[in-house]
Amino acid sequence: MQKKRTAVLISGRGSNMSALISAAKAPDFPAEIALVVSNRPNAAGLGVARAAGIRTLVLDHKEFADRIAFDASLDAHLRIESIDIVCLAGFMRLLTPWLVERWRNRMINIHPSLLPAFPGLDTHERAIAAGVRFHGCTVHFVRAEMDSGPIIYQAAVPVLPEDTADVLGSRVLRQEHVIYPAALRLLASGRMAVEEERVQIDNARMPAEAVVSPKV
Ligand code: GRF
Repeated sequence: MQKKRTAVLISGRGSNMSALISAAKAPDFPAEIALVVSNRPNAAGLGVARAAGIRTLVLDHKEFADRIAFDASLDAHLRIESIDIVCLAGFMRLLTPWLVERWRNRMINIHPSLLPAFPGLDTHERAIAAGVRFHGCTVHFVRAEMDSGPIIYQAAVPVLPEDTADVLGSRVLRQEHVIYPAALRLLASGRMAVEEERVQIDNARMPAEAVVSPKV
């Protein structure tokens, strides 16, 4: 099996990146984490990636004239490294439509809400303020509009009356670490297609956790 060379793009602590790295250690995992890229030189996740023996690259966005220049450099590096799949994992930069199109259906993102509810920031605060009973996370293909694109996996968790944003956020994050590796496994194994902007999965049994988490 030829493992798909995968790049993970981060800006911060990189816990989803770590979940992907751990999952990819399994011999039968169809992707290898070949590169971790951060747009912030001090992202904590960079140290974690280096400790795991993964090649890292810092592309400090402040050193580029504009978004296009940054994205062109990012794209060139991804190509030099023969990357097949890109995973955005807490990557806090909007990508240009040009880059998104170049990686169409090969670039995925994890977002801490049940999209299309609560795109953008502060999703846990907003979920509590809205009074929703369920909240969660989504892995989706990246499209030019922020936090949009065909949905691969979602996990739902309950919102409890005494929840703070932090408590709710940790409950969601545990599920992120389950569904992101599951989605990468599916994409890298070629068992998924996008038809009319909806994801079709070949004979996939979703991990139970990816439907609703009973473990609060
Ligand atoms: C996660 O909540 C992810 O869903 C969002 O940003 C956060 C990144 O956390 N896109 P980490 O860096 O993976 O720990």
